[in-house]
Amino acid sequence: MKVYRAEDYTSMSRRAANILSAQVILKPDSVLGLATGSTPVGMYRQLINWYDKGDIDFSQTRTVNLDEYLGLAPDHEQSYRHFMQENLFDHINIRPENTHVPDGLAPDPEEECRRYNQIIAGLGGIDLQVLGMGHNGHIGFNEPEEAFELETHVVDLTQDTIRANARFFSSPDQVPRRAITMGIKSIMQARHILVVVSGADKADIVRRAFAGPVTPLVPASILQMHPHLSLVGDEAALSQL
Ligand code: F6R
Repeated sequence: MKVYRAEDYTSMSRRAANILSAQVILKPDSVLGLATGSTPVGMYRQLINWYDKGDIDFSQTRTVNLDEYLGLAPDHEQSYRHFMQENLFDHINIRPENTHVPDGLAPDPEEECRRYNQIIAGLGGIDLQVLGMGHNGHIGFNEPEEAFELETHVVDLTQDTIRANARFFSSPDQVPRRAITMGIKSIMQARHILVVVSGADKADIVRRAFAGPVTPLVPASILQMHPHLSLVGDEAALSQL
């Protein structure tokens, strides 16, 4: 594992964007595994900035996102597809058909998981997977005690996650109860994993995930076993490591 310590959120985002852009420059048709959430937003902003300056070209790049809520249309404001369009895809020259997010409206979610696994396999696997990390160590929607050996699958959201998400919806019963997520196995099969963390509130889980025992109780701890892992964080998030 290589740890990159950055002073603050802006330099953390820049360092993470450096790693991602190096991947795209060295291999223009790279398959990037992407994450939503607040942590990678600054990295996406930096990439858009370099794209605007003509420093990076996404015309051959392919992407697969980690997860999506079940029941939300792609244009729903809280869908992860919408998040990716707003925060990255609409601002760069990536081809829409080269971007993949699980279909939240799939009539048969289990079939959608199979289809998604085939997409990843058909692309030749993931070159670089970006991950944020939840306060309980979740990665994607793989919550504590999730089996390590799963590929893309359907998950029931925990009460904690439903409660935490309620603020983004007009009423609590509109919060999706289920999601599709890449599994830990799909994530671990990526050739390079880039974890981004920021803020003092992540310091404890960063220590447990990267300096504690590997256990399903902290899903991100399995990442210690990955042969090519980059952890990019600001001082606050890395303060206990
Ligand atoms: C996002 C995802 C989540 C987030 C995690 C951290 O696609 O799957 O696992 O990466 O919840 O979120 P933030 O970055 O908002 O702290």
